[in-house]
Amino acid sequence: MYFIGLDIGTSGAKALLCDGDGEVLATALAEYPLYAPQPLWSEQDPADWWQGAKQALRQLLAQSGVDGRQVGGLGLTGQMHGAVFLDGAGEVIRPALLWNDQRTAAECAEITERVGAARLIELAGNPALTGFQAPKILWLRNHEPAHYAHLAQVLLPKDYIRLKLTGVSATDAADAAGTLLLDLRRRDWSEPILLALEIPRAWLPTVYEGPAVTGGLLPEVAASLGLPAGLPVVAGGGDNAAAAVGTGVVRAGLVSSSIGTSGVLFAHSESIALDPAGRLHSFCHSVPGKYHMMAVTLSAGGAFRWLRNLFTIDDLHCPKGRREALLTIAGDAEAREFRQLSYDDLTKLAAAVPIGAEGLIFLPYLTGERTPHLDPLARGGFIGLTARHGPGHMARAVMEGVVFALRDGLDIMRGLNLPISEVRATGGGARSQLWRQMQADIYGCTVTTLAAEEGPAYGAALLAAVGVGHFASVDEAVDRCVQTSGSTAPNAAAVERYERVYAIYRELYPTLRAHMHALAGV
Ligand code: XUL
Repeated sequence: MYFIGLDIGTSGAKALLCDGDGEVLATALAEYPLYAPQPLWSEQDPADWWQGAKQALRQLLAQSGVDGRQVGGLGLTGQMHGAVFLDGAGEVIRPALLWNDQRTAAECAEITERVGAARLIELAGNPALTGFQAPKILWLRNHEPAHYAHLAQVLLPKDYIRLKLTGVSATDAADAAGTLLLDLRRRDWSEPILLALEIPRAWLPTVYEGPAVTGGLLPEVAASLGLPAGLPVVAGGGDNAAAAVGTGVVRAGLVSSSIGTSGVLFAHSESIALDPAGRLHSFCHSVPGKYHMMAVTLSAGGAFRWLRNLFTIDDLHCPKGRREALLTIAGDAEAREFRQLSYDDLTKLAAAVPIGAEGLIFLPYLTGERTPHLDPLARGGFIGLTARHGPGHMARAVMEGVVFALRDGLDIMRGLNLPISEVRATGGGARSQLWRQMQADIYGCTVTTLAAEEGPAYGAALLAAVGVGHFASVDEAVDRCVQTSGSTAPNAAAVERYERVYAIYRELYPTLRAHMHALAGV
């Protein structure tokens, strides 16, 4: 029997097929556009997701050569927090507002006022943040009353695809927690919050646990995709929780550290854990009855990409002594011309620079920051530049700054007494030896890596396998299918040197905050 995971991501729909042992046989990706019609806005057309989902599923089956009739279950995952607005006929009213949309500052203040800051954290686990779904509903009410008048249903991105696949309005507790409308303890919609915000419960889908079957594939959709009619579709999870299933972060003590465009520290928790200051997100896990805490730094790999795009090989000024290393990277003079640096090039340059980049620190707040500052107006910067510093120093400072930002999140987790026995590195940060060692040294603990990593779609496929009874539980699925492959231990001398730099890093944001805000108004 085979299982499919379908991830409605921000850049595209990714479908993955695995067998009953969790072996991945094929993946397929269909990309779609992202729209920014105004500054701070970030939108997508749900019709593009649906086209992308169908294309990825068809491509997946064609590529794998597997007969669709042998597929036993499908799990959904996707970008969290978005709002899909539907009318009484189930038609999309306007483009969806996404997780990285920042237009709802006033609505966040309104929610805090209506519910109360402490009560919001107590009930929903989180403060009102611009990316979450609830403020988007209030934004529609405040700014587009004509659209709001037709509103009959609000869904998260992957749940719109569920509606198209099965005709059922359903969601899962992990993704639902990212709306700000869920009672985290009851793992169902919070009546007091809905009442305070005047949002009818009838607009919201039924909440299930991650592996629960929410419905079957509609016959006409099944026929068009080459899959069995009635194929069980399980609830699945938001992309971070589903990814955690795929990386085995389903037990107390396990934390994953993912460096992708953004950086995410994800900690499993057996019971509900709250940060009274709201710096960490508290959400339900895709493991039934369990929870997780999450620290999100918005520019991680994204900051490294930003730096890489600033230089070509010819821009590199090589201080004496590193010329040789640079020429190894650049090759002959001809190849050097206009050649863009690769991530490997930049990493090699960074590796040639000592810890602390000879007194250079990078603040990675290129798109504001969530954890720990919750400040959309935070700004990035290099502090400590001297005439001696070159691109290698900047590369090293960016890599260190990203891990310092994640360390901020880890320290909050430690402060809340969340048990942390193992940190699993995932994403681009796990593929670079330098970044792995940096994480071990800056976190001050051993960092493990996985034998294979396939992201959220893999976790969604495992949830499907659990949902149809192929595995007895998420734990069993993980034990059978997820393996670690190596570990990087911290180096005691490096730990001490990083500790000194991190102490300075921590002081910089509070010292510069007022100036960052003033610059945002210039
Ligand atoms: C999590 C978050 C992102 C989205 C994008 O809080 O905003 O990770 O889920 O995929």
